[in-house]
Amino acid sequence: MLTTLPSLLARAEHGRYAVGAFNVYNLETIQAVVAAAEAERSPAILQTSEAAIAYAGMETLGALVHLFAKKTKIPLVFHLDHGKNEKLIMEAIKSGWYGSVMFDGSALPYKKNLKLTKKIVKAAHARGVAVEAEVGAIAGIEDFVSVKERDAHLTSPEQALEFAIETGCDALAVAIGTKHGAYKFNGDCQLDFERLAEIKKLVKTPLVLHGASGVPAAVKKTAMKFGAKIAEAKGVSDPAIKKAVKLGIRKINIDTDLRIALNAGVRQFLTEHPEDIDPRAFLASGKNEMTQVIRQKMRLFGSSKK
Ligand code: G3H
Ligand code: 13P
Ligand code: ZN
Repeated sequence: MLTTLPSLLARAEHGRYAVGAFNVYNLETIQAVVAAAEAERSPAILQTSEAAIAYAGMETLGALVHLFAKKTKIPLVFHLDHGKNEKLIMEAIKSGWYGSVMFDGSALPYKKNLKLTKKIVKAAHARGVAVEAEVGAIAGIEDFVSVKERDAHLTSPEQALEFAIETGCDALAVAIGTKHGAYKFNGDCQLDFERLAEIKKLVKTPLVLHGASGVPAAVKKTAMKFGAKIAEAKGVSDPAIKKAVKLGIRKINIDTDLRIALNAGVRQFLTEHPEDIDPRAFLASGKNEMTQVIRQKMRLFGSSKK
C-alpha cells in the first residue's frame, strides 16, 4: 500500500529506526525493493532521480510502483530524489504519482535555497505531497582542503534549525561527510557524528542521510571476480550507519549498492552460462543480488519487521 512520507518517518522516529530509500529505474529494481520489503516485513521508499525519469519516464515508473503498491500490504512511499529542475518537480507534484518530492537546492546560495524550498513546500502541501529539502552540500570529508572549507559545506546545526522552521519541509537531508557514488573514502570511513548529534538536538524534522551505500565486500568481490573494475570503491561502514541511525537519521538513501549488486549478478550469470542468451535469466540473477542487498540494509537500518 502507498502511504505518506511524514507518517512513515514519524513511525521510524517513534521506533528509533531508519527507512531505506532505494533508487529505482526499471522493472527489476522495483521488483527487488518490493520483494525485499515483503520478505523483511519492512516499510520502504522507492525513489526516482531526474536521470531515472529521463531513462524510463515518470508515468511508466509511477504506474509500475503504484501497481506493485496496490498488491502489497507493506507501506511504501514513491518519492522524487534530488529534484533540481523546478518544472520537473512541479510536474511530479501535479502528476499524482508521487507521495513526496525532494527539492535539492544545495548548489544554490543559502537564501535562494530557502526561498525556493518554501515555494515548493507551499505548492506540494497544497496537493498533499510531502517535501524533502537539503541544507549544506553532500560531499566527502576527504574532499575538503581545510576545516574552514569543511565547515562551509557540511550542514550547520543552527542553519538547519532555521531552514527547517522557515520552510516547513517534511524531511531534511544533512551533509555530515557522506558522498554519492562508489568512491567515498580513500582511508577510513569518517563521518561528522558530533555535527549530526548537534543537528538532532535542535531540529525536530526527520533527518535524511544521502550517499549511504556501503559497497558490501562480498558483492564487490563477486562483481570484481567476474570482471568489474572497482578495486578502489569504498563506502560507509555498517557500524557508521548504525551510529547515524542511533543519532537520529530516519531515511537512508541507497543507489550505488544496488548498481553493484545488479552488476555482480548479471556478470556472474553471463560468465557461468555463456550459452544462455535469455535476458530474463541474467536479469533475474541481478535482481536476486539486489534483493539480498536490500534485505541486509533493512536489517541494518532496523526497519525489518516494522
Ligand atoms: O543521488 C543520486 C542517485 O544516486 C541517482 O543517480 O542521477 O545517476 O540516477 P542518477
Ligand atoms: P549512494 O550513491 O551512496 O548509493 O547514495 C544514493 C543517494 O544518496 C541517492 O539520493
Ligand atoms: Zn542523494
